[in-house]
Amino acid sequence: MSRKLFFTYNDIHKTIKKLAKEIKESGFNPDLMVAIGTGGFIPARIMKTFLNISILTVGVKYYDKDNKIQSEPEKIQWIDEVEKKLKGKKILLVDEVDDSRSTLEYCLRELLKHEPEEIAVAVLHKKNKKKSGVIPKEIKRYHTGKTIPDCWCCYPWDADDIEKHDSMSKE
Ligand code: G4P
Ligand code: MG
Repeated sequence: MSRKLFFTYNDIHKTIKKLAKEIKESGFNPDLMVAIGTGGFIPARIMKTFLNISILTVGVKYYDKDNKIQSEPEKIQWIDEVEKKLKGKKILLVDEVDDSRSTLEYCLRELLKHEPEEIAVAVLHKKNKKKSGVIPKEIKRYHTGKTIPDCWCCYPWDADDIEKHDSMSKE
């Protein structure tokens, strides 16, 4: 994969504003967000500006220390007392990118175990590619800020030199 796409904080802010508007207009009123770390943390915080609901966070890793893919995602950190917090609630699951969909599927299946009323998915970017994970059939609402080709997304929070990063986004 050689092509890279650079997104600035401003790009992301505007994409999330649009995404929040779409979610509101769909008639879904989430009670809380669950952000998948770490890529979903900043998008979820920006989303809070528009939806004004609390954020719970989960941490999942799919790669080991040598950057090799593991057989399945592994929880790094999970919500305490999940049952109490998720049961009967409308949840918006937030992540930055829908890539292989494996992490997304894993998180959705784990969250569904705690009997929420409904879960909707909001991802900043969806890569247009064949997915190895599936969105479980219980999930009826899926929103994406932008559908993009299968290339590597460079996010501002990963930048060492943010000015250089922003200048790359203009090329
Ligand atoms: P998915 O279910 O959301 O499609 O995620 P998948 O398991 O395919 O992705 C594995 C990891 O790779 C995730 O990070 C995801 O954010 C990251 N990733 C996939 N494509 C890109 C990309 O184009 N750009 C960047 N920057 N990251 C990408 P993770 O293991 O959850 O770690 P974190 O970086 O979110 O902390
Ligand atoms: Mg991620």
